[in-house]
Amino acid sequence: MATGQRVVVACALPALGVGLLRERFVVETGGWRPDLSWLRQHVPGAAAIVADPSVRVDAELVDRAGGSLKVVANFAVGYDNLDLDTIRERGIRAANTPDVLTGATAELAIALMLAAARRIAEADALVRDGGWPAEKSLLGRELAGATVGLVGFGRIARRVAELLRGFEVRLLFASRSEPRERHDAERRELGDLLASSDFVSVHVPLTAETRHLIDATRLAQMRRGAILVNTSRGAVVDTEALMHALRSGHLGAAGLDVYEDEPHVPPELRRLSNTVLLPHLGSATNATRDAMARLCVENVIAVLAGREPPSPLV
Ligand code: DGY
Repeated sequence: MATGQRVVVACALPALGVGLLRERFVVETGGWRPDLSWLRQHVPGAAAIVADPSVRVDAELVDRAGGSLKVVANFAVGYDNLDLDTIRERGIRAANTPDVLTGATAELAIALMLAAARRIAEADALVRDGGWPAEKSLLGRELAGATVGLVGFGRIARRVAELLRGFEVRLLFASRSEPRERHDAERRELGDLLASSDFVSVHVPLTAETRHLIDATRLAQMRRGAILVNTSRGAVVDTEALMHALRSGHLGAAGLDVYEDEPHVPPELRRLSNTVLLPHLGSATNATRDAMARLCVENVIAVLAGREPPSPLV
């Protein structure tokens, strides 16, 4: 039953989610990537904003929405785009979509490890171009027998660890705390992990502490020829330093799904043949995006009905 409350959808929420919202609310959608002026124009008087990591919800936007705003629902597990302090101070609720995208994102991290190690993007481009490899070209490396270091050991990293079991790798992780869940990975200090791993996969949220966590010094600690995979947030890795490490041959390859200034991908990164570059596809399967949409909408419905949201942030 429609309530007359207005929900502003500022990101590409799947049709399933928009439909569920329309059953109850007046919904305004801004299309695939609405620009800031559309958002600024539509938020005044809104009861809910649905955002994703490309939409910065800061004090200016929250204040523009005004006293009607009850909830900011992120269509993502990551919430570095939300100014949670401001949202909390104004007595507004915020929520995200954890768990439902763990499997899809973990699978993509492994896809990037394999693609970077077996040079799949380079090989695909060669064949499409009518070519065929010269002797001893396009030789890669295997996961089997390798040491894989996971930076962060939250839900997604632990799922990566589970999925990697069949590859017979040695697993290391660096994390601020020892997880309560059972696992068969060894905990290491970050520097030690970097120096001991053939593959390093980054799984930490972007915060003030993790911005450029993997900088020139950390990259220099990595093994020569190692492969770096990032499916978390681009700004966890210093892109300039990464490009230098890839250019110099210190790093063997990188598999990236995320960038510091999306959707801008530095031309130099695009020119390097030892990179596999994806456009932030971690959660991009139909099943996962629909599950995220449902959870995101449940968060909106719960708050606007005066209930506790299923996955609250504040
Ligand atoms: C997330 O959910 O945080 C993913 O990066 C998708 O945006």
